[in-house]
Amino acid sequence: MRFFPLILAVLFVSCGTDGRVRRAPAEVRHYGLSERTRIDLAADPEVEEELNRVLIKYFGEPDAPHLASQSAWIEEGFDPNASPFQGGRPDLLKQGVSVDSLREDNALVWRQELELLAANDSEQVGPFRGRRKMSLNWRELLQIDPEPGPNAASDFFLERYPPLAEAGELFGVLCARCHGFEGGGNGPMGARLFPKPRNYRGGTFKYVGTLDSVKPRRTDLLRTLIHGLPGTAMPSFRRLGSSELNALADYVRLLSIRGEVESMLVDEWIDGDVPPEQAIDELYELIWERWLSAEQEGLVIHAPTADPDPTRWHMGRKVFLDPASGNCFSCHGTQGTGDGPSALRVDEEGQTFALLKDDWNEFVLPRDLSKGVFRGGSRREDIYMRMYCGIPGTPMPSLGQSYHADGTPLLGEEAAWALVDYVLSLSGQGPLAGVAGASGTLPAPTK
Ligand code: HEC
Ligand code: HEC
Repeated sequence: MRFFPLILAVLFVSCGTDGRVRRAPAEVRHYGLSERTRIDLAADPEVEEELNRVLIKYFGEPDAPHLASQSAWIEEGFDPNASPFQGGRPDLLKQGVSVDSLREDNALVWRQELELLAANDSEQVGPFRGRRKMSLNWRELLQIDPEPGPNAASDFFLERYPPLAEAGELFGVLCARCHGFEGGGNGPMGARLFPKPRNYRGGTFKYVGTLDSVKPRRTDLLRTLIHGLPGTAMPSFRRLGSSELNALADYVRLLSIRGEVESMLVDEWIDGDVPPEQAIDELYELIWERWLSAEQEGLVIHAPTADPDPTRWHMGRKVFLDPASGNCFSCHGTQGTGDGPSALRVDEEGQTFALLKDDWNEFVLPRDLSKGVFRGGSRREDIYMRMYCGIPGTPMPSLGQSYHADGTPLLGEEAAWALVDYVLSLSGQGPLAGVAGASGTLPAPTK
């Protein structure tokens, strides 16, 4: 039922013979509640109605999504709905995204359009595939001024930063078939995939550069979008420009915050506590705080010079196999092939059973490190980050939060980098690639 409005939208947005996008008859779309919410509130339609009212107040509706502003933000000049070109997005600018770099990138993405404009050929510009709202805005611009001055027209492209409504439309075209219209990971294609598309509603992300906060930083989300997650269905969207990628990250954040507010409120209501307006505000701010603080806490990792000294390979292997240290083998297996005793059980008849589950209640297999396919990136820094931060929502632990009994970190820097290079060597990568021998058989550890 949830996808019915989407299908309608697809049917109505047909291309006319003139190649222009026709406006669909007004059909109102709504964000749906999660399956869990609907089950929990099945006997309580009044609470469901109230919940919908609150969610619309804070997040809007699919055709006009927005993020409720807080008075403290207004004082700080932060407006989560604004374009960085109009100010109001210090969060974005703090995250290493500059207005100049967005402009430069827009100039590349819309090169053809800008060339047509420079040649006074604005009639040839648009419509833009999969971007109905943008096409309509462009037509509006032409209607107000059939021959827009070169500046107004080119600024349309150069200063393009899709507002949340446009980002939502892009999400509908590019992502919803896997991630679901509301980001519940339940798109029509999702059910057949392993691993399943991420359900953003719980607020947990896997490939993050933060410790306690499982929130991704903007760079983490952008990395996922640009490189995809190799070895999974999550594709790369590198053909999009920086503005669109950032706007998609904004929209993923909206869906995620919305999902978390929804489930927290349902918990409160089920406990019999009807949250007053102020409590809802606090909840909303708390989740936002986690997203914004992830940016400050994020790790910046500089890999030491690649050192091919074979003793480092043995040091890495020792840590990998030591139950009191890395203990990696218990899940990843002694050869790193993902078949450690904590992960798989083989019964007397030779049947293999997966033992580990993730927070989404799906079975999860430790990565086969000998394949050399790393979802979070395969640079030395990326492997270090994965080891250090762990993979939230999965059993993969975080070394950055593992300590000896006396409070010292479980692994020092030298051992940690030896382990990184050892892991990479299992697939013939990194500075220690040759050490395991061309045949792939492992030499005995030296004393
Ligand atoms: C063909 C299916 C598919 C499409 C289309 C798709 N994704 Fe994904 N996406 C996945 C899968 C599968 C995963 C989970 C992989 C995993 O668990 O390692 C994922 C994970 C993610 C994550 C989570 C990363 C993390 O750190 O946990 C984000 C964010 C994401 N996708 C965003 C998007 C956006 C935005 C789009 C559209 C521009 C999109 N995806 C389109 C399949 C898809
Ligand atoms: C309790 C089990 C467990 C232990 C212990 C463990 N891992 Fe993992 N590891 C996993 C699981 C499960 C995944 C896959 C998670 C997923 O696909 O969502 C994983 C994934 C990985 C990845 C893939 C990252 C990527 O970007 O794809 C690397 C690298 C890795 N582990 C290294 C290590 C190292 C090094 C150690 C020891 C310090 C270790 N793991 C200890 C369970 C474990």
